[in-house]
Amino acid sequence: MPELNYIRVEREGDLAIITVDRQDKLNALNAEVVRELGVAFGSVRDDGEVRGVILTGAGEKAFVAGADIGELATMDSLSGVEVSRAGQEVFLAIERFPKPVLAAVGGYALGGGCELALACHMRIASENARFGLPEVGLGIIPGYGGTIRLARLIGLGRAIEITLTGDMVDAGRAEALGMVTAVVPRDELSDKARALMAKVTKNGPVAMRLALESMYRAVDTSMADALDYESNLFGLLASTADMKEGMTAFLEKRKADFHGR
Ligand code: COA
Repeated sequence: MPELNYIRVEREGDLAIITVDRQDKLNALNAEVVRELGVAFGSVRDDGEVRGVILTGAGEKAFVAGADIGELATMDSLSGVEVSRAGQEVFLAIERFPKPVLAAVGGYALGGGCELALACHMRIASENARFGLPEVGLGIIPGYGGTIRLARLIGLGRAIEITLTGDMVDAGRAEALGMVTAVVPRDELSDKARALMAKVTKNGPVAMRLALESMYRAVDTSMADALDYESNLFGLLASTADMKEGMTAFLEKRKADFHGR
């Protein structure tokens, strides 16, 4: 694992906890933080002992307060495209990550921070969390997938309102809109994130990977193609040791012991 300045990767049993830690700037994403995020996810991707990831931000105030505005202020048209593409690439790798990724949002998730949470498979938030896409107030647009993922998650009309007003969305509204699935007190966030992931990671790793693949694929394709794809993945799972173990364990009235094969 290469040395990282702004990202911490910790192992806790079968979980990897990835923490953005740049607290003096509310964990804002400069180019180096984005690059290191990619390295961090890459480092746990092929680790067979890791069954899931919790992504969070260091400190009490922020998940990630956005892309680094000081850095963005210096971009020109060409470097702007590169900045956007570099972020999109890392965020897409998170969305396509072959193990479940939960964002535990404690505090501000603005701009690139909101986009980062949206790229994760699941999101829970603390009561003090604030989401938002304030980019238009800076004369730019969300450039890390936010103009696409928010609408896919909560519907175009609501996403347009949030994007064009730049208003912050408090945790309660975020839950009502379906941006997060639970809101918990700040001091319970990390325990609740671990409890949720414990329910997820006990399940068959290959099955979870293919379930995510089928669901994300369906967003981009026709119903007929999505159903075909689902059937093929369903059939593929019949060849796995995980399926044999899951069904045998049920019939033998014991807990399954999956090995991700
Ligand atoms: N980029 C760069 N620096 C940022 C940042 C960002 N997105 N968000 C916060 N910071 C920095 C502040 O400049 C400040 O640094 P300083 O102490 O060197 O001046 C530090 O983080 C603390 O932020 P501060 O603004 O003092 O905290 P606050 O509690 O008063 O306000 C926010 C919190 C989140 C409301 C405010 O920081 C903010 O609006 N940030 C920008 C959010 C944004 O527009 N994000 C989208 C960017 S595309």
